[in-house]
Amino acid sequence: MRKVNVAVVGVTGAVGEEMLRVMEKYNFPVNKLIPLASRRSVGKEVEFRGKEYEVLELTETIFEEQEVEVALFSAGGSVSAHYAPFAAEAGAVVIDNTSHFRMDPDVPLVVPEVNPEDIAAWKTKGIIANPNCSTIQMVQALKPLDDKFGIKRVDVATYQATSGAGKSAMEELVMQMKDFFAFRLDESEHKKFPHQIALNVIPQIDRFLDNGYTKEEMKMVNETKKIMHKNIEVSATCARVPVLRGHSEAVTIWFDNDINIDAAREALYNGKNIVVMDNPSKSEYPMPIVAVDKDETFVGRVRKDIYRDNVLHMWVVADNLRVGAATNAVKIALKWLEMEEI
Ligand SMILES: NC(=O)c1ccc[n+]([C@@H]2O[C@H](COP(=O)([O-])OP(=O)(O)OC[C@H]3O[C@@H](n4cnc5c(N)ncnc54)[C@H](OP(=O)(O)O)[C@@H]3O)[C@@H](O)[C@H]2O)c1
Repeated sequence: MRKVNVAVVGVTGAVGEEMLRVMEKYNFPVNKLIPLASRRSVGKEVEFRGKEYEVLELTETIFEEQEVEVALFSAGGSVSAHYAPFAAEAGAVVIDNTSHFRMDPDVPLVVPEVNPEDIAAWKTKGIIANPNCSTIQMVQALKPLDDKFGIKRVDVATYQATSGAGKSAMEELVMQMKDFFAFRLDESEHKKFPHQIALNVIPQIDRFLDNGYTKEEMKMVNETKKIMHKNIEVSATCARVPVLRGHSEAVTIWFDNDINIDAAREALYNGKNIVVMDNPSKSEYPMPIVAVDKDETFVGRVRKDIYRDNVLHMWVVADNLRVGAATNAVKIALKWLEMEEI
């Protein structure tokens, strides 16, 4: 594999920082690293493979000037909407972490463990979209079960960490906890969330739509269908919990036919990127503290429904900044290099 010039757009953010760590871990073939962020960050330095790199300002012409070949975007939807076409025009493949292009029929939406073949459609716009963090971990766990038994419906409740809303959202939780211990939590500010997040659970992520669901919930509905190429019924309730990193999901799956629980466990054991952690007698099951800094999706509490033989329940946890963002993006980029024989 040839080494390529890689731009990380949003390099100073929660996801951008993880992009660097994951590229190090996966030994990504980087020829030149181009760390990009807003004008506010120009002059700051980021570390990659033991070397300091100065952050450059994202501009329309930077991709051409720096001969970027792979552009990893995680700087917000409006930034991708404006700048990703400039990167693609300059000849780079864009791997976009924001929601902006995900449902565009000309942009593949990819989880490498589920639909890697969709990467081949990247050329139309030069862009490949990374799904929502909650969707990625869920479809990784659904895929082996769907292959074996055929899924017709999924009901999911999420317990999402504050880092899903970026670095400043993590800081908001930490500040509120400090204020709690200083007996001034009632004076504490909340900017990133509609309510205080410390010592609380907020059943709203993103804004509400006319159908009563939030945008985050509808992302899980629509993205699951696009990735799995199947009209699976999905109903989601997404909640924000006072956790820094790691999204948890209670997933109920309805199959076409009755299932065998041992065969379901076996399928999960053999699932790509899945770690089954399911030993209730020893209180062993996935939790955010288990998943932090890990690149796998953890599955546990696997059990059949009490009333129906075609329904299964399970608990799925992954690091939203890794599995739900950076790791998925870097794996897409690696697969793209392999498919393009670069
Ligand atoms: N957090 C997650 O779990 C997750 C998962 C999947 C996808 N995503 C998506 O990834 C994106 C970034 O998320 P994050 O959590 O990393 O957010 P974050 O911690 O707030 O970081 C935002 C990054 O974008 C940069 N940025 C903001 N405005 C910019 C502009 N006008 N021009 C250039 N750079 C700009 C920031 O640079 P400065 O430091 O210079 O402001 C910073 O590097 C979002 O679209 C988010 O939805 C996040």
